[in-house]
Amino acid sequence: MKLSAKAVPISKAAANVGRSIIIRGWIHRKRSSGGKMFAVVRDVTGTIQCVIDKGKVGEKEWSAIDSAYLESSVIVKGVPHKDERASGGVELSVEGLTVVHSGEQFPITEYQSPEFLLDVRHLWLRSQRMINIMKARAHIFRYARDFLDKRGFYEISPPLLTAAGGETGASMFEVQYFDQKVYLTESSQLYAEAMVPALEKVYALAPSYRAEKSRTTKHLTEYWHLEPEMAYFDNKKSMEFQEMLVSGIANRLAKTDSEILKYFEVDPESLKKIRPPFKRLTYEQALRLLNEKGDKVDWGDDFGVEEEKLLTENESAPMFVYNWPREIKPFYMPVNPKDDRTVLCADMLAPKGHGEIIGGSERIWRLDELMERLDEVEKAKGVKFDMDKYAWWIDLRKYGSVPHSGFGMGMERLIKWMLNLDHIRDSIPFPRMINRIKP
Ligand code: 4AD
Ligand code: MG
Repeated sequence: MKLSAKAVPISKAAANVGRSIIIRGWIHRKRSSGGKMFAVVRDVTGTIQCVIDKGKVGEKEWSAIDSAYLESSVIVKGVPHKDERASGGVELSVEGLTVVHSGEQFPITEYQSPEFLLDVRHLWLRSQRMINIMKARAHIFRYARDFLDKRGFYEISPPLLTAAGGETGASMFEVQYFDQKVYLTESSQLYAEAMVPALEKVYALAPSYRAEKSRTTKHLTEYWHLEPEMAYFDNKKSMEFQEMLVSGIANRLAKTDSEILKYFEVDPESLKKIRPPFKRLTYEQALRLLNEKGDKVDWGDDFGVEEEKLLTENESAPMFVYNWPREIKPFYMPVNPKDDRTVLCADMLAPKGHGEIIGGSERIWRLDELMERLDEVEKAKGVKFDMDKYAWWIDLRKYGSVPHSGFGMGMERLIKWMLNLDHIRDSIPFPRMINRIKP
């Protein structure tokens, strides 16, 4: 068979019953009995059982498929027949085949440890589980972009190499950049802010890097960060926008990807029901609730895994915790005029302990207010702000500055929650974690 032969997607085989077609895929499973071989072939659209009769195909073709290892690439010509028992409702009676490449024995067999599967992630990506996750991931990225594009946002391309941090700066990877030390970006926010006076509503969908030593099921050192930034949005309007975005993605996933959701035992109805408004607790209310639940947290404490779990374990939709203490939030957040112990910001927590999926805030847009806040953060942290490196960003407050807000959503956290995955590492093809940089 010619390698260039025109092939039909396996999912379309059922629409071609009785007609000779060509499919192209990889051998997923195979067994033989007597002069017959049953090979399940997979392509991106599905699987089909191919029945190969030794008497019907040539000697050369028989021996090629007989000796082919699992995951060999094949081109198969045959006629689909209805078969109630078959997945997809059809089976292929094979007329001819080409083993494009067999190579070596596939190293992944049925029961393997998670560590081994991470070592061979480049091959494990062909598993049904990973295929389903990667499809959902691609769709979720598209739904997020569609949502924003439809509402007049421009996607921007921020730099990933930066001279200074955009968050706490405490967990950045250093990179040797000719004769100076620079960093892999921890957030594109400051660059998104610079583009607001030009494009008004923008978003970056780009990697962020965090040199986090935490070995949790929610932390990657490289993750994909969706960061919208909007002119004339206050914190309230930003929160309303966030819940629309997250609901929009959840509803579309439920509608379009229900088969994938069912594979992960997620009821599509549960995502269809996610609708604004989400529950909103101030930090103070959340603190009170946690203490009522027996968790001893004091004013000014940040919330950890335990607190996030306690707050969200009985929720079926995400919730906001807003207006956090000023000491534990970054330098760009404005003080709340109604309670100066807090800043105007919000975190969105996913249900059932999946953790923080969004962090966002209003941004200080007046120069004097910013200089005061930078001074305060410097004093509290005992570190000097490198004015030279932030000069350009401070500059934005000198020329036609406007009130604005923005937020950052961790795409892998979102996927982990929506597919109910145990660990964030499966929501990205090649996870980067403290002890993993290969493959
Ligand atoms: O809360 P964070 O640190 O906020 C920022 O970086 C802001 N500058 C965003 C902005 O306003 N433009 O991070 C935002 C989100 C978190 O809510 C979480 O979902 C995700 O990024 N995130 C991580 N995801 C995976 N692994 C990590 N180590 C993460 N750290 C943060
Ligand atoms: Mg945060």
